[in-house]
Amino acid sequence: MREYTPLTITDAVLEQMAETPDARMKEVMEAAVRHLHAFAREVNLTPTEWIKGIEFMTKVGQACTPARQEFILLSDTMGLSALVNIMHDKTKVEEATSASLLGPFFRENTPKFATGAQIAKKPDGAEVVMYGRIANAQGAPIPNAQVTVWQTAADGRYDIQNGIEEIDCRGIFQADDKGNYLLRTVRPLGYFIPLDGPVGQMVMSQKRHGMRPAHIHFLISAPGYRELVTALYLAGDAHLDDDVVFGASADLVAHVKDGDPACPIKGLPSIQFDFNLARESEADRRAGRVGADPAAVTASDGKNTTPYGAPPPEMAAAAVAAAEPKKSGGIFSGLFRSR
Ligand code: BEZ
Ligand code: FE
Repeated sequence: MREYTPLTITDAVLEQMAETPDARMKEVMEAAVRHLHAFAREVNLTPTEWIKGIEFMTKVGQACTPARQEFILLSDTMGLSALVNIMHDKTKVEEATSASLLGPFFRENTPKFATGAQIAKKPDGAEVVMYGRIANAQGAPIPNAQVTVWQTAADGRYDIQNGIEEIDCRGIFQADDKGNYLLRTVRPLGYFIPLDGPVGQMVMSQKRHGMRPAHIHFLISAPGYRELVTALYLAGDAHLDDDVVFGASADLVAHVKDGDPACPIKGLPSIQFDFNLARESEADRRAGRVGADPAAVTASDGKNTTPYGAPPPEMAAAAVAAAEPKKSGGIFSGLFRSR
C-alpha cells in the first residue's frame, strides 16, 4: 500500500486522472489539482479552515438564482474574471479597443432604439450624449455595427436590481453606414457591487470599499469582427484605480464635456469615444460570447428570483464618510444627493 505524504499525494491524484480522454480538460484539471495542493501546503490549511471554505462556497451556490450569479461575483471580486478577460483580449488578431467585464447586469432582453434616442426612462436632468465611430483596426469605418449599451440609472442602480421585469437604461442601437453611432443616456454613477450575499460578506470582512467606478457598458458587434465587450469609465471618478472588480483601465476612461462643437446633439454634456474592432479569427468563431448572460447559468430552475439587494447601511455610511473631504462632486456625493 502507498503511504501519502503532503507532497506525494499530489502525484497520486494526477496519476488517477491520467486517462482523462479530453486533453484540454486533463490539462486544466491537473493544473487545478497542483495549484490547489500547493495552496493548502503553503497556508498549512487546517480541517476547520477548509470546512469554513466549503461552507462559504456552499452559501455562494445557494445565493444563485435566475436573477443573481454569486459565483461570477466571487470570480469578479477575486480578480479572476478580469484576469481571464485580459488573457482573452491578448488573443485578438489585431490591435483594437480593449475589453472590459461584461458584469452581472447584461441581459439579452434589451429594447432597440432609433439613432439619438434616450435610453433612460427618467433622465432627470442628468442627460449625456454619447457619440463616436466604430472602425476597424486600421481606422476604416465599419458600417451598421450593432451597439448594445447598459448602465445604472441616474439613481446609481441597474434596472434588474429593482426587479427582473424592469427594463431601463439599456438599449440596442445601430451605427450608420459611415460607422457613426449616437445615443442619449444619463450620467452613470459609481455603485456598490451587490454586497447583500456571501461575496459581500467576504468583501466587507476584507475592509474593501465594494465600489465600481461610474461606467457605461458596451457590446459591439459586426459581421467578420470579434465581438467587443467593454465599458467606458468616467474620468474623475475616485475609484478608477481601485475598482472592486478590477475592470477599469486607463485606455477606457472617457471624459464628459460641455459644449463640444462636434457633438451632433447640442446643449447637452457629451462623451465622444471611437471604438475599434479586431477582425474575427477562426478561434473567435468557435469561442462564442465572452462572459455570456450570467442569468443563463442558473436559468429557470424554479427558484425565487430575488434580485441583488442594496448595500448594508454601514457600508453606505462608510462610503459617505470616506467621500466627505471631497466636496467637489465625487461619485459618492452623486449617489446620495438629488440632482
Ligand atoms: C458591473 O459592471 O456591472 C459589475 C461587474 C462585476 C461585478 C459587479 C458589477
Ligand atoms: Fe456595470
